[in-house]
Amino acid sequence: MKAVITGAYSYTGSAVAQELLRRNWQVHTLTNRTRPAGCENISAAPLRFDREHLERELAGADLFINTYWIRLPWKGQTFDSAVDNSKLLLRAAKDMGVGRVVHVSVSNAAQGTNLGYYAGKDRVENYVRSELENYAIVRPTLVVGPQDVLSNNIAWFLRRFPFFPVPDGGEYRVQPITLADTARIIVDAAESNENRQIDAAGPAIMSFREYLLLLQKACGLSRLMVSVPGWMSLLMLKPIELLLRDIVLTKEELLGLKQELLVSRHAPLGTASVEDWLLENGAALGASYANDLRRHFGCDCAKPVSTLAETRSA
Ligand SMILES: NC(=O)c1ccc[n+]([C@@H]2O[C@H](COP(=O)([O-])OP(=O)(O)OC[C@H]3O[C@@H](n4cnc5c(N)ncnc54)[C@H](OP(=O)(O)O)[C@@H]3O)[C@@H](O)[C@H]2O)c1
Repeated sequence: MKAVITGAYSYTGSAVAQELLRRNWQVHTLTNRTRPAGCENISAAPLRFDREHLERELAGADLFINTYWIRLPWKGQTFDSAVDNSKLLLRAAKDMGVGRVVHVSVSNAAQGTNLGYYAGKDRVENYVRSELENYAIVRPTLVVGPQDVLSNNIAWFLRRFPFFPVPDGGEYRVQPITLADTARIIVDAAESNENRQIDAAGPAIMSFREYLLLLQKACGLSRLMVSVPGWMSLLMLKPIELLLRDIVLTKEELLGLKQELLVSRHAPLGTASVEDWLLENGAALGASYANDLRRHFGCDCAKPVSTLAETRSA
């Protein structure tokens, strides 16, 4: 059985691809990255939004898993263009008669339509529901694992600064899930035949402040946590972002956190403890900064995500 997946050398897609291989799928990926060591058994073609190209790459596939999305508008890419690109991918899968499509969305897409990221996700979900015959929509909350940008970079800040400004007190909740659980849930959904929409959320709900304390514990740190107004935390980040040449946190990401969009309204399908994962992997967390703009737009954009941390600390 042949699966085509976007981003098998990136973050979520790489864990999903490894899970597919474990379950004896043949895996082909659409990506603009070079192949990392250990992925020789995953064939690849460019992730190019050209209909004929996509149809060629999807011909003969039994399964298509779409992880493509953008974190923020940048260099001419917008959430509108991400919606159009997603539709092009999904349409090509439909036209080529791919048997099953799993679309990776985000928790509470329909509840966050005041925010561009969630509104775009909601539009693509509607497209999947109205156009595809055999599909699953999987909606992760906050995916925690190696090379994760958000948790890693919070740990990076915790390691380097004596205090941490917590936007608006951090009492809003999150429900993180491990990367391994997310991959298992996505491949389970791929191997089912039901049209379903499921959240990928971990077993524990905690406040964002508690999550920060957990990251501190995992890194063996004890930092002063200072509540500051959300706007001030974004303002304080500006000079650091200029130095890092990255966008650490967007206003919309902060609003999404405060709207508790990373908390599922359903019984959790994730079983592994995120706390245990963080405590086991704390030594590596935040050891190097994960530069998201460089990863997707800069000189790292063709490098395999799995090697970026080593490159940076070398
Ligand atoms: N990470 C999380 O905590 C989280 C939480 C909730 C939902 N999600 C959803 O899960 C899916 C995978 O997320 P991820 O964090 O694992 O993402 P990712 O690995 O960084 O990227 C996933 C795919 O999107 C492509 N991509 C990302 N940014 C792009 C850009 N600016 N231009 C062109 N292509 C771009 C990547 O291309 P390359 O293969 O070339 O890198 C890759 O194929 C997304 O749909 C995301 O919305 C993630």
